Amino acid sequence: MERLQKFLAAAGVASRRKCEEIIAAGRVSVNGQVVTVPGVKVGPDDQVDLDGQPVKKDTVLVYYLLNKPAGYVTTVTDTHGRPTVMGFVPERPRVYPVGRLDFDTEGLLLLTNDGELTNALLHPSGEVDKVYRAAATGQVSDAAIAQLAAGIELEDGITAPAGVRLVKRTPRQTVLEITIHEGRKRQVKRMLMATGHRVLHLERVGFAFLTLSGLERGKYRNLTSQEIRGLKKLVRNR
Ligand code: URA
Repeated sequence: MERLQKFLAAAGVASRRKCEEIIAAGRVSVNGQVVTVPGVKVGPDDQVDLDGQPVKKDTVLVYYLLNKPAGYVTTVTDTHGRPTVMGFVPERPRVYPVGRLDFDTEGLLLLTNDGELTNALLHPSGEVDKVYRAAATGQVSDAAIAQLAAGIELEDGITAPAGVRLVKRTPRQTVLEITIHEGRKRQVKRMLMATGHRVLHLERVGFAFLTLSGLERGKYRNLTSQEIRGLKKLVRNR
């Protein structure tokens, strides 16, 4: 027996947190009864439906690493009809992005139907390192770099210490490599904006030990079994 939101997440419906919202919205029924509270226990003999369709655990778990181009949203559907990253990967089995990248952000995005791993990777108690390469307007001073690294006040609180490396500084632009483990909305852009610099270009180049190496923009590859084991081990050890 497992909790309904865990069952749904493991079936690849969405992250566990998102599944709780889906349950609260009255979209899930167990043995024909709509359930709106999380925590209900379900077992293999229970019939779970989402929007009237049976939910089955995918027998095959897949793990993709996509090099996302700018101009795509990382949600499965977009209310404004913008193109989504889902078109870059096979339609079946259905996968979901691990976290998000902005419409105009490029780079490394994981997609999987392994809800448990997604949930663990995104858990606030210790998200994995994400490395961004950001080009920002003007000259970001050494003092501003130190401030970004130490933690900077944003409207939703001070950021955790970050790794910040100066890649290039020209009269009009500064390129930084920023390593964060939090996953707040538009975090890198807001961090730089807090120092008075607007992000002109943002690319995620690393996620845990994964990089974009050898992968063209708009292409995906399957993770190797060693990489999958590595990610699972990372989240297990926290
Ligand atoms: N930080 C941002 O500002 N945007 C992203 O897409 C990812 C991190």
